[in-house]
Amino acid sequence: MKMYVKIIFIAAAVILAGFLALLFNGRKIQVKTDKNVEGLSEELCEVLYLASLAPNSHNTQMWKVKVDTQNQTVVIGLDKSRRLPVVDPYDREMTISLGCYAGMLIEAFEAYGYECGIDYLSGDDYVKIRYNKVNDEILYDRIERIYKRHTDKSAFTDTALSNGQVNNIVLYDNVYYFPKGTEQFTYIKENMLAAVTQQSYDKAKAEELANWLRLSNKETVEKKDGLPAEQLGLSGVVKSMYYLTTTHDSAQKDSFAKQSINTASRQLNGCAGFLVITSGDSREELLSCGIELVRIWLSAVECGVSVHPMSAILEEEPYYSRIIQDLNLSKQPQMVLRLGIADNYGENAAIRRDLADYIIVEEN
Ligand SMILES: Cc1cc2nc3c(=O)[nH]c(=O)nc-3n(C[C@H](O)[C@H](O)[C@H](O)COP(=O)(O)O)c2cc1C
Repeated sequence: MKMYVKIIFIAAAVILAGFLALLFNGRKIQVKTDKNVEGLSEELCEVLYLASLAPNSHNTQMWKVKVDTQNQTVVIGLDKSRRLPVVDPYDREMTISLGCYAGMLIEAFEAYGYECGIDYLSGDDYVKIRYNKVNDEILYDRIERIYKRHTDKSAFTDTALSNGQVNNIVLYDNVYYFPKGTEQFTYIKENMLAAVTQQSYDKAKAEELANWLRLSNKETVEKKDGLPAEQLGLSGVVKSMYYLTTTHDSAQKDSFAKQSINTASRQLNGCAGFLVITSGDSREELLSCGIELVRIWLSAVECGVSVHPMSAILEEEPYYSRIIQDLNLSKQPQMVLRLGIADNYGENAAIRRDLADYIIVEEN
């Protein structure tokens, strides 16, 4: 074989190998969560796993859980090592996230035929869920909704939500929907982008976020938490290139900030409207806000509406202090959700920790 033909063959083989490596690294990673907890029935473990699919800030999975099978209670507390002290110094989002866990736990119990009650607690324990089995029927459609619910960071289509969809999502008096074309929509869009810009260039916040980014399949499978490419909506070659070009250091640089701002701009242009959930600031009110968020989100899943919380406007000043007055609301906005219709609905990436890492079974 002539020399130049050999060189062409070798070059083609190298390019093909590189391309296959990109495809291989870009495949969707499956995190195997160990659902087994000694002392708990398989059904209870399944319910607790479904609860862990709750939305939560930065996917830090900040819950600490105590199960008492004799008294049939689950007590949920905050794992302080998983707080976000820079972006969330007063644990506002941590508390909402624990409310989300409580809400999802109730949802999962109900799907397995249990009735639940809620007690709000003070001190290190935040909320207690009482459970009691009332029938043996398993509601598979409700379980399916839990698996399908996820944060969708893609730019949505131009399709507006129908009145029926909006009615199914605005479930409470303290919840407001502002569709594209309204003054309030423009206000949120513009101020959100300004808040994202301010936040992206804040070094302390960039460092905190970088600690929770997962930047390889290996890191994702080992840590089972945080924000890997899957949680950012990246897949295939784009995911591979992101992992190849990003480190925990480079994620704190201005070039990464610019990328985040561009992404936010695309997201804000690609949406049908914003949903705002308001409430007071007490622990109980924030926990209730989390429970409401889960119910709203599962209802959105049912009617095909994609959901993406965007919190920068509530994490940055002066935006947080101004929004209540500027939108003429009677209570403080606690969650802002970007809503829309996606080309492909998708499902939860299920990057979740082993249950035994955070669940204690109480001895009686
Ligand atoms: C209180 C709270 C605030 C959140 N803020 C944001 C946000 O600002 N940007 C974002 O992309 N996702 C946000 N999320 C979504 C979480 O990142 C997401 O729930 C988590 O990564 C788990 O992913 P999943 O929802 O697909 O299960 C927030 C979620 C909660 C509960």
